[in-house]
Amino acid sequence: MSSGDRVRLAIFASGAGSNALKIIEHFAANPDISVTAIICNNPNAGVIAHAREHQIPTLLITRKLLNDQEWFLTQLNGFGIDYIVLAGFLLLIPEYLVDAFPEKIINIHPALLPKYGGKGMYGMRVHEAVQASGDTESGITIHLVNTHYDEGRIVFQKSVSLAPSDTPDQIAEKIHLLEHAWYPKVIEEWVDGK
Ligand code: GRF
Repeated sequence: MSSGDRVRLAIFASGAGSNALKIIEHFAANPDISVTAIICNNPNAGVIAHAREHQIPTLLITRKLLNDQEWFLTQLNGFGIDYIVLAGFLLLIPEYLVDAFPEKIINIHPALLPKYGGKGMYGMRVHEAVQASGDTESGITIHLVNTHYDEGRIVFQKSVSLAPSDTPDQIAEKIHLLEHAWYPKVIEEWVDGK
């Protein structure tokens, strides 16, 4: 294996993969931590091209395969995965996976949890709700994953001011900048602290 004794991360992503790309780039030259696999449930996701460019294998799955405990754990074990990083992954993580990776699955949410979280609160829906609320700030939350959407222990939060004139698209842009600046570093500290 080219990654030797490095700690191995799998990134789970369903969409564009801008966070996944930042994480891949961040760890590319890290001697201790490697992004070993991308797990994706959407054959049209942008993250697949990012993985290919960086020569990281992508495992394309379905909801059914994710819930097939024996099959899916065999795949992750085949890659030697130690930690799971969710970066815009839209399927619910099954209980067996939380049990197999206790405190070893991390997620990023594009708002200040517990506000604007839970089932159905993802992507632009979050930013539209924030804008409609008139809140003067939003932010990012990085948290451990349990079997309920957006409810695991919070590891890190960072806020950003909003202008009354900010549109949901402008809020999304501010949040993406925060995510890209912080998620890779927070993952590194979290893994290093284990
Ligand atoms: C991010 O905003 C993240 O917070 C959320 O999904 C989005 C993924 O964006 N969980 P990208 O695919 O990384 O660009």
